[in-house]
Amino acid sequence: MTPAAQRDSSLYEYYGRQRVLPTFANLVDEAAVAAYERGRARVFAERLSLPTRFFAGARVLEFGSDTGENALCFARWGARMTIVEPNERAHAAIRAYFEHYAPSGALGPLHAADVLSFRGERVYDAVVAEGFIYTVRPTRAWLDAFARLLNDDGLAIVSYYERHGTLIELALKALYSGARRISRRPAEEVARRLFGVKWDSIPHTRSFESWTMDVLENPFVRAQWFLDARELLAEADAAGFDLFSSWPVYRDPLEIAWHKAPIDRARRLAAARAHVERSLLGYVCGESAFLTGAPHDVAAICVRIDAALDAIDATLGDAPDYRAAAAELERLDEALREAELLGGESRAPARRLIACLREGFAALGRSDVETLENATSTNPAFIAGWGMPAHLAVFRRRAQ
Ligand SMILES: C[S@@+](CC[C@H](N)C(=O)[O-])C[C@H]1O[C@@H](n2cnc3c(N)ncnc32)[C@H](O)[C@@H]1O
Repeated sequence: MTPAAQRDSSLYEYYGRQRVLPTFANLVDEAAVAAYERGRARVFAERLSLPTRFFAGARVLEFGSDTGENALCFARWGARMTIVEPNERAHAAIRAYFEHYAPSGALGPLHAADVLSFRGERVYDAVVAEGFIYTVRPTRAWLDAFARLLNDDGLAIVSYYERHGTLIELALKALYSGARRISRRPAEEVARRLFGVKWDSIPHTRSFESWTMDVLENPFVRAQWFLDARELLAEADAAGFDLFSSWPVYRDPLEIAWHKAPIDRARRLAAARAHVERSLLGYVCGESAFLTGAPHDVAAICVRIDAALDAIDATLGDAPDYRAAAAELERLDEALREAELLGGESRAPARRLIACLREGFAALGRSDVETLENATSTNPAFIAGWGMPAHLAVFRRRAQ
């Protein structure tokens, strides 16, 4: 564990010590709010099969709203909001947003509590927890808490760091940490020199400074915290939830059965987990790279992905071995050369990205920060590649 992680036993304690809030989007007028809301509506309607109409009149409980931009959208779609945000520094922004841009009366209670300490009744149609729930352990504890709060057929909506999808984000953090260690330059300068071009290449709703704090410096962005989508599916099922939708898609899209046939839940779960396993390389790369080989070949690639991820993570410890990380990325690349993929064209971008990361760690192994900075600022595969760190999943509480 890093010293910072020892100091902060929870993610919100870490945020509580920071100058900037993690996801503040600084929406300054109705047009900005409406644009943000349109982006959220697209996610729900088009990626999660959940039209915003679902929220009209719904009782929604959001945990960890930060400054409340997402809660504001639910409210504008007609939800009655209860918010639980332990970082009280975010409360003024939440109130201000609701006062200016939400229908009156849409904001119900606003609590400063931890997700597991919140005690509420079973009255909610949706419980939302985005961007932090992966740091709350054990996973079953928050799933059970959500099940206690939700009505029958109520939805648990979460976003989280998926272990394999986070390989690139973890690599960014490790490259940054290595460059800082070697160059001894100030944090913001190192981040800008490495990732300024990459950051500026896509539109964001938060500042570079927030991202630096929330990803590059955040002690909870470490492999030990990330959730494996396959395990989350199994745990949610055991806690009484069915998968409603997810992004990326976890459900086996190849399932064919008569629509009136009884649903075999165990089989469905197994098929979804197998589909996820074949998608793990795609999560790493952030684009379609579906593994079609025999199950043991697929499992072998997953082992290589895990080994590369763990080697990258280990460079964030006290005795960083950058060459070991480069070597594991090389092994992953070798496995990829042989892998059977749906549509051969997905192989080349995946390999280019992994090659760039490998060169970055190799440069750190030589204490050559200049070559690293040059690569991260000019390599198109590196600039375009973000992986698929944030997964969204919606689970429906089974009626009891
Ligand atoms: C990264 S921000 C995400 C904000 C917003 N949900 C989003 O996705 O844009 C995570 C928020 O969760 C809160 N948080 C962290 N740990 C929490 C916990 N155990 N219980 C409730 N909220 C928590 C933090 O204070 C922070 O405001």
